[in-house]
Amino acid sequence: MKKTIAVLTSGGDCAGLNAVMRAVVFHATSLGWTVLGIQNGTAGLLEEPYAVRELKREDFDGFTMRRGGTVLGTTNSRDPFHYPMPDGTYKDRSMEICDALKSLDVEALIGIGGDGSFDILSRLTSQGGIKFIGVPKTIDNDVGLTDLAVGFDTAVEVATEALDRLQPTAASHDRVMILEVMGRDAGHIALSAGIAGGADVILIPEIPYSIDAIAEKIKGIKEAGRNFALVVVSEAVTALDGEKREVVYHGGEKRYGGIAEYLAPMIAEATGFETRATVLGHVQRGGSPNHNDRLLAQNLGVHAVDLIAKGRYNRMVGWQNRGVTDVAIEDAVKVCRTVDLNGTRVHTARALGICLGDK
Ligand code: F6P
Repeated sequence: MKKTIAVLTSGGDCAGLNAVMRAVVFHATSLGWTVLGIQNGTAGLLEEPYAVRELKREDFDGFTMRRGGTVLGTTNSRDPFHYPMPDGTYKDRSMEICDALKSLDVEALIGIGGDGSFDILSRLTSQGGIKFIGVPKTIDNDVGLTDLAVGFDTAVEVATEALDRLQPTAASHDRVMILEVMGRDAGHIALSAGIAGGADVILIPEIPYSIDAIAEKIKGIKEAGRNFALVVVSEAVTALDGEKREVVYHGGEKRYGGIAEYLAPMIAEATGFETRATVLGHVQRGGSPNHNDRLLAQNLGVHAVDLIAKGRYNRMVGWQNRGVTDVAIEDAVKVCRTVDLNGTRVHTARALGICLGDK
């Protein structure tokens, strides 16, 4: 049966979003369906005329799959239930979006997003009677009920490369280098990149740390004759007063940031090493997706279209046990998947002698 489906990207971008869309467009058009791309998340449907265009196979031939970012644009600050208006007030504009989807004759919406976007999109589509499929993407890898979200693997690769680049400069100058990585409230990027990049200390939000424990590890390295140390810290690790460090941007938007600079003087004081901080920031989100993210993106994109073809809706596609899977969207948004303290990676890190900040 001929169908029209729509696709949008929502929340922070990451590598691999265009690869998901390519898979959706290739598979859906091979079934004879029409795919509409909505620009800038749901905000594209609040413009007049709607910021919507048909996505064709030829749009994704060639370079697009390799490109970072999203050709549709995205937003992580325009919640349709609490939409910022030009006069500074907020308005519930969710029904306008449902009406727009209906007027475009959209049978189902594929939303490529994280848990925050899924929460919003599933409420919005259910109130408008529109069928929804979620494809998980986020460098934070914190979406529930999937082992992997699109973008995580590339972010870990970027953070690992940063450690590879920090190591020789640390060794040349007898320094401790602290690398601050993203991840919001989950320490997945820090833990994975820290193990892969040979870090000596990895600090994640899930494990409380003490400066004494960090200093003991680094002093031990010095006593053993090594002249440098590498520390990775996740952006949401708290300061000693229990507060997360934040940066307030123009307009009042707050984001985590600053923990590496905060820790640097304390680590220097406690260890006698000169210490420098590097904040990796959005570099982790940009750039071409690596092969793992391209594969994951396309496996999930195809599965999303398969679900629509089978009439199975309100599901999130995911990756478990070496294959695609799908779960009820409401189950996926219930859990923020933080680092499992009894999991393999924590065990591996400890067994390798990496200090996780605790004794
Ligand atoms: O959720 C993805 C993420 O990159 C987080 O790791 C980070 O805390 C946040 O988004 C940064 O948001 P923004 O792009 O708005 O600065």
